[in-house]
Amino acid sequence: MSKQHLVIFDTTLRDGEQSPGASMTREEKIRVARQLEKMRVDVIEAGFAAASPGDFESIQAIAQAIKDSTVCSLARASENDIARSGEAIRPAKSGRIHTFIATSPIHMEKKLRMSPDQVVEQAVRAIGWARQYTDDVEFSAEDAGRSEIDFLCRIFEAVIKAGAKTINVPDTVGYNIPSQYAETMRQLIERVPNSDKVVWSVHCHNDLGLAVSNSLAAVLAGARQVECTINGLGERAGNAALEEIVMAVRTRADVFPVETRIDTTQIVAASKLVSQITGYPVQPNKAVVGANAFAHESGIHQDGVLKHRETYEIMRAQDVGWTQNKLVLGKHSGRNAFKSRLVELGIELDSDEALNAAFARFKELADRKHEIFDEDLHALVSDEVVTPEQEHYKLVYSRVTSETGEMPQATVILNVGGVEQKAEASGGGPVDATFKAIESIAGSGAELLLYSVNAITTGTDAQGEVTTRLAKGGRIVNGNGADTDIVIASARSYLNALNKLESTLDKVRAQGDDI
Ligand code: KIV
Ligand code: ZN
Repeated sequence: MSKQHLVIFDTTLRDGEQSPGASMTREEKIRVARQLEKMRVDVIEAGFAAASPGDFESIQAIAQAIKDSTVCSLARASENDIARSGEAIRPAKSGRIHTFIATSPIHMEKKLRMSPDQVVEQAVRAIGWARQYTDDVEFSAEDAGRSEIDFLCRIFEAVIKAGAKTINVPDTVGYNIPSQYAETMRQLIERVPNSDKVVWSVHCHNDLGLAVSNSLAAVLAGARQVECTINGLGERAGNAALEEIVMAVRTRADVFPVETRIDTTQIVAASKLVSQITGYPVQPNKAVVGANAFAHESGIHQDGVLKHRETYEIMRAQDVGWTQNKLVLGKHSGRNAFKSRLVELGIELDSDEALNAAFARFKELADRKHEIFDEDLHALVSDEVVTPEQEHYKLVYSRVTSETGEMPQATVILNVGGVEQKAEASGGGPVDATFKAIESIAGSGAELLLYSVNAITTGTDAQGEVTTRLAKGGRIVNGNGADTDIVIASARSYLNALNKLESTLDKVRAQGDDI
């Protein structure tokens, strides 16, 4: 059977970023976009240009950096939103504007306060504005999952006539079930004039846990673009998970008449990157990318897999990028071996300075932990991603005493913009005391929204990877830190978050915003 192409439209950087607390800095978004490009995603929805100057700049930077995927910006059906999107994607080799307006009775009446006729007129105008910037225009009927089919046919016919090239049918509130959603798609393709001139797209939310099933059912009914996110991140319960869509289509090639161009061996790396940057952990039993997705616990299963892998495995772990915990380097490895291993892992450090700093940390780590795995290297280099000019606060020294029946006491010395400052504090635990000491120097007043610790590998000498989420003045940032000493990992993670807050606040100060 000859296969049609299924467009993979990744919206991790837009809908995914709408998950509470999952906001990413521009540099982090560029890292994710590069990984998506490496994975050969067709379209990267890089953000919502009119949402904020930061979103605009991130989309523009991604449009400049990415060459092998289309870069897209979301826009409401308004002239200003579309102009901002058009400007933001201008540097892209291939750029798309994705404009939307709500079409369900409840949204039109209660939210937009517009009549159906006005909504159709506005949608048609929006396509016209968007086409001044690019021919690649996508239209979404927000809340299509609760819209009337006759009205959807009417608005889609009008926007196709106006020049939309992709028609997206979002189940915005995750209300549909697979048979119903597939039937909507089938009827739209059958009834809308010129439906064969456009790509039909799905965008499903996971409120009832059906986002992937609904998307796949619609693919069987004729949809040829799926909008999805890494790890299923997204507004509320999230979006359809990219890794599940891609692997379902590939594993059940006997059922799906489509294929993607995704390099599936990049999936696990993408999942880990997004999880680390957003501070959203991946549940161990998550399909495809969960730590247990390929682990067999029961004796019967283990025996079967050892005799013949396919008795209990429908996919190969290495096909989605799982590597065995490999002992990769030791304390005698040199800078070249270190650098080569990073290249093999697809990690690029953009300066010699960053490489030297990462190598110094590797040597330090190798002194304390004799087995160093790929996961350790990933954690180690991700600490080097903050560029020196962004590192307003640096950890110089940290000491903590903790004994039964006594309050833990912490002492820290920070380098703050070139000047060393020392503070002491006590707290409910060693991490609490350390954070209080840091805060007494930084005086950030930021609210701690999340603190989480994860062991990167096994063993009591494993590095702990810490995520700290801070909020201040409406901004939310995630900091990461890794070390075999979890108090130090925690301090690094807290300082990483403070540095991000500081650099976003600097930008706002430069733009003259009153914070
Ligand atoms: O869920 C939704 O309807 C959306 C649209 C903007 C496509 O995210
Ligand atoms: Zn959505």
